[in-house]
Amino acid sequence: MKDRTAFICQNCGFNSPKWLGRCPNCGEWNSLIEEIEEDVSAEYSFPPSAPVLYKDVKTGEKEREKTGTEELDRVLGGGVVSGSLVLIGGDPGIGKSTLLLQAGHAIGERAGTVLYVSGEESVRQIKLRADRVKVASERLLLLSETNVDSILNQLCHIRPAAAVIDSIQTTFSPHLESAPGSVSQVRECASRLMHAAKREGISILLIGHVTKEGAIAGPRVLEHIVDTVLYFEGERHHSFRILRTVKNRFGSTNEIGVFEMREEGLVEVGNPSELFLAERPEHVSGSVVVCSVEGTRPLLVELQALVSPTNFGLPQRVAAGIDHRRLSLLLAVLEKRAGLRLGNHDVFMNVAGGVRIDEPAVDLGMVVSVASSLRDVPVGSAVVAVGEVGLGGEVRAVSHIEKRIGEAAKMGFSRCVCSKRNLKGLKTVGDIEISGVHTVSEALNLLLV
Ligand code: TYD
Ligand code: MG
Repeated sequence: MKDRTAFICQNCGFNSPKWLGRCPNCGEWNSLIEEIEEDVSAEYSFPPSAPVLYKDVKTGEKEREKTGTEELDRVLGGGVVSGSLVLIGGDPGIGKSTLLLQAGHAIGERAGTVLYVSGEESVRQIKLRADRVKVASERLLLLSETNVDSILNQLCHIRPAAAVIDSIQTTFSPHLESAPGSVSQVRECASRLMHAAKREGISILLIGHVTKEGAIAGPRVLEHIVDTVLYFEGERHHSFRILRTVKNRFGSTNEIGVFEMREEGLVEVGNPSELFLAERPEHVSGSVVVCSVEGTRPLLVELQALVSPTNFGLPQRVAAGIDHRRLSLLLAVLEKRAGLRLGNHDVFMNVAGGVRIDEPAVDLGMVVSVASSLRDVPVGSAVVAVGEVGLGGEVRAVSHIEKRIGEAAKMGFSRCVCSKRNLKGLKTVGDIEISGVHTVSEALNLLLV
């Protein structure tokens, strides 16, 4: 019998009977690859499960295991839920293996055996890394394996408290013909691991590589299968790493954890504001501190703008760490509502420290930093700007204002500029002067003197 084949998008898992240059589902170019269609569902039969009385179902906080780092626990919603499947995605070399080796060690210390399965490195290589990051748990088992059947066998045999699979793209099922890393393989391996996790109550942490080129299966097909999706991101040239929750069945999303990659492994950063503000220049125009709230946590970061006359051609607008469309929009607001002439100036905007923020509450900081650089008037170094800017040039109220002002006060800032509407019912937070403004022009008059 001839095998039936189908073209499967390696980014999102879309299935098409014929080849297409562009995936109609996710819009990715050149991502459809021919794979043999197999019906694997009949091959394994899972034991049928019986219904349980609602009142007999046990829940409780005890079912979460702490991972030894508060930052990782926070993004997971307080620890790893036993029997859950967590996917940690990120660019190669960002530190995923290091993070999970450290977490595996810590879980091992508390909860019992942890199995670390690597399909990328030999047991010796893992040991060398473990020595480097000073992980010496008695309960950490290392396994170099890529066959999902063998991994599942080991899981059922050892029954560890948790397992790390490094990475899902190197794991393969011999029942499928397609190459490891293809969508069918990734999906098949992940769902079989999912069943094992649920059945045996083992927490499984999967590592997934993410590349823009789509050469290996994108994580999107996995996002539906797993319980929690975390992204580990950061700039290659900076030592900060940010762990973000994208999906979480057991906690809130948008939480972040901040780490620093050091010689001796990943170190958690308890006070990220301090870190991100550490190299702030004094009395330099274009520099403004803003407060963004990521999940439950306020984060102070420095925005830097540089406005300089365009020498040739079209003026450039370059943004790093923030949405460039938001920057263009705010520049238009500055031109129209505050009378700033930016038409023949290049504008560069950067978030210091390689952080990425996408919260409207930083709008006010953006417009103030551009105006400050254009007029070459520095903003006082003890000022924090918080507010959303509307198309009419009005400064709008933002959520979590007390949290933001509290963080600014804690970090020693003496003045916060925000929307006047935010002042209503505002409790005094710390020793900080709060100035409310209605419009962008008002804010500029207040700050650029
Ligand atoms: P790794 O965890 O292997 O990344 P991933 O699994 O995401 O591909 O980390 C790789 C980088 O981290 C590597 O360039 C070296 C650096 N590193 C340190 O700076 N300190 C350390 O203690 C370790 C283990 C790695
Ligand atoms: Mg790795």
